Amino acid sequence: MTSTSTPARPATPAASRMAAVSEMTRLIRLLFEVEREFVRTASTLVYRVGEPELKYLLCQHIWESAGHARFLRERGRELTGFGTTETVRDSIRRLFNEAVGTNTANPLVLTAGFYEVLKPALLAAYRHYLKVTDHLADWPSKKLVEEFIADEERHLREITPHLKGVDAREWKLHLTQGLDDLGGWLGQETRLPLAASYVWQGEQAPYTHPATCSRGKYPLCSGVFGFDPKEDPIVRPWLTDPKTDARVIRLMVYVWLMMELDAVDYLATVFFETPAAPFDLHFDLARHLWDESRHSQFGFRQLPKLGVDLMTVEHSLDLYNILIQMPPHERYAMMTMEFEAGSFPTKALVMDRVRELNDFEADTLLAFDRNDEQNHVRFGHRWLPEMMALFGEKRPVEEFVKATQEKFKQYATIYGGKVPHSLPTAARLTGEKILKLAGV
Ligand SMILES: [Fe+2]
Ligand SMILES: [Fe+2]
Repeated sequence: MTSTSTPARPATPAASRMAAVSEMTRLIRLLFEVEREFVRTASTLVYRVGEPELKYLLCQHIWESAGHARFLRERGRELTGFGTTETVRDSIRRLFNEAVGTNTANPLVLTAGFYEVLKPALLAAYRHYLKVTDHLADWPSKKLVEEFIADEERHLREITPHLKGVDAREWKLHLTQGLDDLGGWLGQETRLPLAASYVWQGEQAPYTHPATCSRGKYPLCSGVFGFDPKEDPIVRPWLTDPKTDARVIRLMVYVWLMMELDAVDYLATVFFETPAAPFDLHFDLARHLWDESRHSQFGFRQLPKLGVDLMTVEHSLDLYNILIQMPPHERYAMMTMEFEAGSFPTKALVMDRVRELNDFEADTLLAFDRNDEQNHVRFGHRWLPEMMALFGEKRPVEEFVKATQEKFKQYATIYGGKVPHSLPTAARLTGEKILKLAGV
């Protein structure tokens, strides 16, 4: 247990005067730690599940959970005894680490563990809080908790269709035993101590990220940017060529946006590996993750409206496959200081061309994408030095970024270009097909 827990019987008169507050603060602190650990560990599901819709939903829930944690921390700090640190106690961390499972486990079974054991227990904990607190005295917490209950109920509803037919009974029993040992997240239930034979699998074999990410039923490739209209969907010179028809550019930029799913997958790997990060770092990463999942949805939802069959769009895996070989702070440096910071000039040209089409929806999506990306680069400047410190990186940021860019180039030759096309050119979305779809 950490020093933040409050003794049941305060030792001094001053402490006993505030006992009613201290007890509720103790619960708020526990709820904060549970939400923050959910963010850190459920993010490992994102690149392991294959279905984009499920990835998007997980990113949204992770973002909302980060929001719960931040409001809980804010409220907690108004109360006596919340503590000044943001660390998570071992008993909570251990169970979330367990829920991450191994990288060979069925990710849908693991998702069921989170959503059919750990999150329902969180919902029960929030309900318990409402039951035991004074609704007038503790009104500010009550308002928050009521909202979080509605969110948690919705999360469980939203995940249900994705877990249909998934048999996770054994895994859920395993996690339930771990939870029963705590007596629920708030210790509000009778504790059922663990059997001596219980094995914490996460401690036997610590989790490591899979070498590649999953895209379920969708066709795959190494990369979607290229120079050959017979092979590649995004033909680089076409993006900036003033002679390219704007409808072609619109289709290509939607493919580009949809492929930000690679950013979703590799960014999601960073949380788990930074357990000592300040909560605000994870909060901004969660926002970043959710933004990328929305950008990907821009393409995923718009392409079919423009006549594209999504089963013909190959998903590019190179960025995940290369970056996963590098440590988290290098991944994050490449993302914010290279890919994002470097994308603005081309995207600006693309936006100007798309505006010719008077397609208000496309203009809106691209404008919000640009606004989000500006924030991401700001996040990078804010958090990269902190992330470097977490990994003992002492070089100046600029020097580190330069070295990382070089390392990436070298790694790209080793780990990149290894994913063969799932589809022959005749069946695949290419530049030439895009010309046809655009009616050029
Ligand atoms: Fe993006
Ligand atoms: Fe971004």
